Amino acid sequence: MDARQVIEAVRDRRPVPAGGIAWFAQGLATGAVTDAQAGAFAMAVLLNGLAFDDRVALTRAMRDSGDVLAWPDAPVPVVDKHSTGGIGDSISLILAPALAACGVWVPMVSGRGLGHTGGTLDKLEAIPGYRVAADAARLRRVVADVGCAIVGATGRIAPADRRLYAIRDVTGTVESIDLITASILSKKLAAGLQALVLDVKVGSGAFLPSREAARALAGSLVDVANGAGCRTAALITDMDRPLARCAGNGLEVAEVMGVLTGSAPQPRLHDLTVALGAEVLALAGIDDGRARVAGAIASGAAAERFGRMVAALGGPADFADRWPAHLAPAPVVQDVYPAAAGRVARIDTRAVGLAVVALGGGRQREGDAVDPRVGFSQLAAPGDAVGPGAPLARVHAADRDAADRAAAALRAAYVLGDPPPPALLVQERIG
Ligand code: URA
Repeated sequence: MDARQVIEAVRDRRPVPAGGIAWFAQGLATGAVTDAQAGAFAMAVLLNGLAFDDRVALTRAMRDSGDVLAWPDAPVPVVDKHSTGGIGDSISLILAPALAACGVWVPMVSGRGLGHTGGTLDKLEAIPGYRVAADAARLRRVVADVGCAIVGATGRIAPADRRLYAIRDVTGTVESIDLITASILSKKLAAGLQALVLDVKVGSGAFLPSREAARALAGSLVDVANGAGCRTAALITDMDRPLARCAGNGLEVAEVMGVLTGSAPQPRLHDLTVALGAEVLALAGIDDGRARVAGAIASGAAAERFGRMVAALGGPADFADRWPAHLAPAPVVQDVYPAAAGRVARIDTRAVGLAVVALGGGRQREGDAVDPRVGFSQLAAPGDAVGPGAPLARVHAADRDAADRAAAALRAAYVLGDPPPPALLVQERIG
């Protein structure tokens, strides 16, 4: 095979020669395909798209370019959830232990914050001692013991995607739905899942804000994942406002503990966790998922699993009981008031995420350190009354200047006026 045969077929919208896509993906991992060829391929796919079978072949071959876990001795279904990312979205931290308490295994290989969105690994690293780096043996051990483990991808997961993603980043080809599909699924399916639920966000804080783009991505992900042998469905969910009341790593962990312990319920965080859990349990052949997931949270069983997972991955053994003592507070905490009184009509959710990044809660450049203490709590929601006695949020910052800059950014992100009717949390199901 010659890389040009594959590139020219996609360029001319002709069928790719048999085995060509798999050969190309392998060549990305081995270096047989050059950067120039990978860039030309990515641009041809962005402009012309790939046939369905070729999208499945690309996903499978990118998955198989590195380590792929298998669970031949698993006594229960092995499942997971993936989100396209949002603000204040800490569902993974609740859902993984809740599903484990419902009797499935959840090897959740997660990512870091990307752009304006938060990342599950950054949130977990707010817990002192929690080690997100785990090799396959450790991941297996913790999943078998606890039922769930949330860890980062090792360098051996989907190396073809790592190379192609870096090339897409500098060739204007990140936006291709076909390449996004193969990129997301190659990494997720390397965990050897039987069922997967996807949370595809829509709205101002989403990676793809428009409903049309979210629907296209959800459809592509569901079709290709099922085509690659993993039972998959997607929910399109509202990210036109932060999912709950906090944005920032340690603050979101505290919010999660409020939900898991019942001490500070967050209905939207809870309800979306239950909806996603019910979907993936149904895909795994388990009925009454809503009641099971809600029951696991209400009974404290999910909190108990979370505590065991934290301890198994290096965190404090008493985290589930004494979490406030383990989460470091920010040096400066102050309320942010609006310029005038009114009701919240709209939130530029992306701007809220960028304000958290600017506080040091995310990365401006790869390799930047993340401050787990900073962010916002008590974020006002659409419809809330705000004014001199009712702040937009509370900012948590490393110093007073950073707090003032974040306050100004937050004020600019909130539009006051007549709130539109509330958007549905779950807007559509695809699958
Ligand atoms: N996330 C990924 O992992 N890959 C993409 O291409 C986009 C988002």
